[in-house]
Amino acid sequence: MKILVTGAAGFIGFHLSNRFLSMGHEVVGLDIVNDYYDPQVKWDRLAILKDQPSFSHAHIDLGDTEAMDALFREEGFTHVVNLAAQAGVRYSLENPRAYIDSNVVGFLNILEGCRHNKVEHLVYASSSSVYGLNTHMPLSTHESVNHPMSLYAATKKANEMMAHSYSSLYDLPTTGLRFFTVYGPWGRPDMALFLFTKNILAGEPINVFNHGKMRRDFTYIDDIIEGVVRVTQNTAKPNPDWDGDKPDPATSSCPFRVYNIGNNQVVELSRYIEVLEECLGKKAIMNMMPMQPGDVPATEADVSDLQADVGFKPDTSIEEGIRKFVDWYRDYYGE
Ligand SMILES: NC(=O)c1ccc[n+]([C@@H]2O[C@H](COP(=O)([O-])OP(=O)(O)OC[C@H]3O[C@@H](n4cnc5c(N)ncnc54)[C@H](O)[C@@H]3O)[C@@H](O)[C@H]2O)c1
Repeated sequence: MKILVTGAAGFIGFHLSNRFLSMGHEVVGLDIVNDYYDPQVKWDRLAILKDQPSFSHAHIDLGDTEAMDALFREEGFTHVVNLAAQAGVRYSLENPRAYIDSNVVGFLNILEGCRHNKVEHLVYASSSSVYGLNTHMPLSTHESVNHPMSLYAATKKANEMMAHSYSSLYDLPTTGLRFFTVYGPWGRPDMALFLFTKNILAGEPINVFNHGKMRRDFTYIDDIIEGVVRVTQNTAKPNPDWDGDKPDPATSSCPFRVYNIGNNQVVELSRYIEVLEECLGKKAIMNMMPMQPGDVPATEADVSDLQADVGFKPDTSIEEGIRKFVDWYRDYYGE
């Protein structure tokens, strides 16, 4: 496969590119390396990827239509995995336009590139945040996601709808993946595990939202990567049983799919912190906070479709996953 991985300098894109390269595929990693969080981490991830001969970096903004058209025309990708996006629920309250530029305009450029250059399968990152006000656990792709609680979530839902229109109009196979709180080595500096580790080691307080009662399906990075690789190889197909009188949101009469990728094991935030304290050998000073606007109180993924279609479901425990994160963190920052 010749694969375009967008967001390759990002947390998930870095691991995914590495994995595709180790499988012998050719990878073009697109990333503008923005400063939403410390760009040094992104450059360090890219340096590891650039050491491998089948990797090249495209320093392009998803929103740059001309550059995106040229890239698709020149490279002839067989597969595209779109991970580049403005991520983060909380930041979407501060800088909503960044979400429209990267996640909506940028995603249109991806769709157009795939449409005009006969890409065999487009896989793209959606998010568990699309479930919004839906509290029916476990969260299922077969239920409605019409009640987003943040603009970030709304852009991810918009991606799914935009993808469906291209699958329907141009027969473009598309698969959307709703990731559930991803963590692990090289993890994002704006996310809880990283922020907690940094502050605990520095003896500073950590902000614990919803008084530690937040419940999350924390998913280890290697499980996410295994799921994405298997899904990429499993080109989306029309569902022959799809019925317009009872429209199933997860499939369609065109080649369109949406899956959850989550650990299917809910953990309370207070337990997550406890495991981190054990790994660090140090207690946290906790600053208990209310819920943040836009955040959902609980997530739990129904992954039965993923398991049925690609024979895999995440299963790394937080005890193992957090230990691996802490090992990486200590090594990277020399703590
Ligand atoms: N990490 C999670 O827990 C999680 C959960 C749900 C969904 N997601 C989604 O998965 C994808 C990857 O997430 P991540 O955690 O690796 O995030 P990340 O921020 O580490 O990676 C995204 C990368 O995309 C790049 N980028 C952003 N806008 C761009 C643009 N306009 N043009 C080119 N490059 C651009 C950034 O520089 C960054 O390196 C995102 O779409 C995110 O919304 C992540």
